[in-house]
Amino acid sequence: MSFRVAVLPGDGIGPEVVSQGVEVLRQAAAMAEVGVELRSGSVGGCAIDAAGDPLPDATLQLCRDSDAILFGAVGGPKWDNIAPEIRPERGLLRLRQALGLFANLRPAKVFGPLVEASPLKRELVEGLDLVTVRELTGDIYYGEPRGITTIAGGERSINTMVYTTAEIERIVRLAFAIARQRAGRLTSVDKANVLETSRLWRKVVEQVAKDFPDIAYEHMYVDNAAMQLVRAPKQFNVIVTGNLFGDILSDEAAMVTGSIGLAASASLGDRTALYEPVHGSAPDIAGTGVANPLATILSVAMLFKYTFKLDALAERIEAAVEQVLAQGYRTRDIQSPGKKLLGTAEMGRFVLEALS
Ligand code: NAD
Ligand code: IPM
Ligand code: MN
Repeated sequence: MSFRVAVLPGDGIGPEVVSQGVEVLRQAAAMAEVGVELRSGSVGGCAIDAAGDPLPDATLQLCRDSDAILFGAVGGPKWDNIAPEIRPERGLLRLRQALGLFANLRPAKVFGPLVEASPLKRELVEGLDLVTVRELTGDIYYGEPRGITTIAGGERSINTMVYTTAEIERIVRLAFAIARQRAGRLTSVDKANVLETSRLWRKVVEQVAKDFPDIAYEHMYVDNAAMQLVRAPKQFNVIVTGNLFGDILSDEAAMVTGSIGLAASASLGDRTALYEPVHGSAPDIAGTGVANPLATILSVAMLFKYTFKLDALAERIEAAVEQVLAQGYRTRDIQSPGKKLLGTAEMGRFVLEALS
């Protein structure tokens, strides 16, 4: 068995956390006797600086020629005022679209040793294990028309929220299938009391549900879901929602587990899959060696599960992370009194040791 993995570190803390992820990937691949060819490419702000494009053709081609992509993060204040068409974030959005990565899986799991890192009370989060299934190639992120025009007295800005039956059906069907492999419960989140796109969403959920009579599903408005996630997060097991609501709720769910620095993700489509931490480039801590690499390392675990189909190795990587946490090691974002503080590279090294 041999796979090609494109490595796109990006900006800010991206390179710092991705280098730790790459070490874990190398070691786990060696343990499984899987051949992995790693090739790196530039994306985001650094690609704008080097080539004037946040997703250079060479990078897109590299990704198309790969089985999986390990992605860091893009963006930062340096590029906040450039033309919107070439913002760093646009590179990631174009990559998702070009590869048809319509399904974004974002698990939010509370590790036993980390219960006290959550801002919520212990009893609310102990044992929490949910996954947000976010639609990733539609919605207001991509809808046309979009733009800003000058009008009398100021400007006018427009974005378009749009979903088709087919787009909704494929993500909802996948979410029901995931719910079947988990606790058999699914919450579909929308804003059907206000939005037409959400009314169609709800209708499609009702239709797809007929094929999954064994799954207990419910609909929930997004404002209530945001509230319920901090009131009683354990009521959720699988959440399926659109691109914009999923972006927001998955950051919230990540924080409930202790830190966004722990949140992994997999973006799946027809072929090449993309694995990335949920967090951004964290310009406030970039270059200081304090970023938490665990979200990236756990994204590597998802890569072993979904692309390499080596569930046992994925579980070993997760177990190595849990072991290091159980030994009391913490990065700054999850530090609590009496625990041992580590930097990014040290945390990576401890996970490697636990893995071997
Ligand atoms: P962010 O996720 O970068 O940071 C939010 C907060 O979380 C910051 O205080 C940061 O220090 C902290 N944080 C994030 N990751 C961490 C980690 N691994 N360890 C410890 N602390 C961590 O979000 P932001 O500040 O809203 O965005 C910064 C830039 O990143 C923006 O340009 C944004 O567009 C971009 N962004 C990119 C991605 C991506 O590439 N997938 C995702 C989100 C945001
Ligand atoms: C994420 C990020 C991206 C998004 C940005 C960087 C385009 O916030 O992956 O959650 O909004 O999808
Ligand atoms: Mn986001």
